Amino acid sequence: MNIGNVTIHGRLALAPMAGVTDLAFRVICRELGAAYTVTEMVSAKALCYQDKKTVPLMELAPGEHPAAVQLFGSDPVCMQEAAAKAAELANPDIIDINMGCPVHKIAANGDGSGLMRNPELAAKVAEAVIRGAGRPVTVKFRKGWDAEHVNAVEFGRLMEDAGVSAITVHGRTRTQMYAGKADWEIIRQVKAAVQIPVFANGDVFSAQDAADILAYTGADGVMIGRGACGDPWLFQRAKALLEGREVPPMPSVAQRADTALRQFRMACQYKGEHIACLEARKSFAWYMKGVRGGTRWKARMTQLSTMAEVETIARELKEAYPEE
Ligand SMILES: Cc1cc2nc3c(=O)[nH]c(=O)nc-3n(C[C@H](O)[C@H](O)[C@H](O)COP(=O)(O)O)c2cc1C
Repeated sequence: MNIGNVTIHGRLALAPMAGVTDLAFRVICRELGAAYTVTEMVSAKALCYQDKKTVPLMELAPGEHPAAVQLFGSDPVCMQEAAAKAAELANPDIIDINMGCPVHKIAANGDGSGLMRNPELAAKVAEAVIRGAGRPVTVKFRKGWDAEHVNAVEFGRLMEDAGVSAITVHGRTRTQMYAGKADWEIIRQVKAAVQIPVFANGDVFSAQDAADILAYTGADGVMIGRGACGDPWLFQRAKALLEGREVPPMPSVAQRADTALRQFRMACQYKGEHIACLEARKSFAWYMKGVRGGTRWKARMTQLSTMAEVETIARELKEAYPEE
């Protein structure tokens, strides 16, 4: 698939998730088959005001290409400046604009999914980012604001007319947040209405789901979010299925522990032990989803505060489940 002049060698992408898809997790997902990754969302305002905490969020791993930095904001002037800064500081292949975030303080401010209520401004934002970015720009948005305001098809066309190079559609409205089922039909309609590449997004939790959403919607690629949390092997299984190869089995507990440990060691290197361990509390528990007696381990994981503890739990897990 080509996004502007950028070629993506595969149809599987990791969806941006704030607090989850940091550099370390993106590296693991790419190793297992994600062809394209997007950073967590970054505030354009924070970037323009030189907030120090923002820059590391945009850092890409060595060799993490093609990849996008995602920005959120709704002031065209600030978004143009932020796009230029992001391009200069992180050198991503693509800049993605978040027009789907449903979180109240973002959407109520007119950012994220709030832009779907103001398509005219959304188009200006897209044009401004294109001017600032000097590289292809993409937009990620939802089905609409609520059930009475479903405008994904018109919105997709508008973004295409504004010069955007690809779009991602999450098949839920803003008011649905993450509840209910994602509507793949609306994604199919958007895909049929535009010429630019479309990523389908929403409720892909298995390799079969990935194949099904691509077949149903006709989309060029699929973005996988929550399904990859604690299960980055979903990319491996989905890739095998799409390529007609035998789908590998779920990884053993030992493999999961090893991969989780590698992720946290990497996170520790670039964000420091304290933050890495706080974040490991939730991510490590995800890696143990469905493991027999998992509650006991999860209780310990919620207390993690040093890498030594992370290493100990990983070792004990491997000893406790040598065969599983
Ligand atoms: C914890 C979390 C954080 C998220 N952060 C972002 C974000 O920063 N930018 C964005 O565009 N979408 C974000 N999303 C939405 C996902 O990218 C995706 O659209 C949504 O989860 C639906 O896909 P899924 O069913 O595969 O999870 C987030 C979702 C979750 C669960």
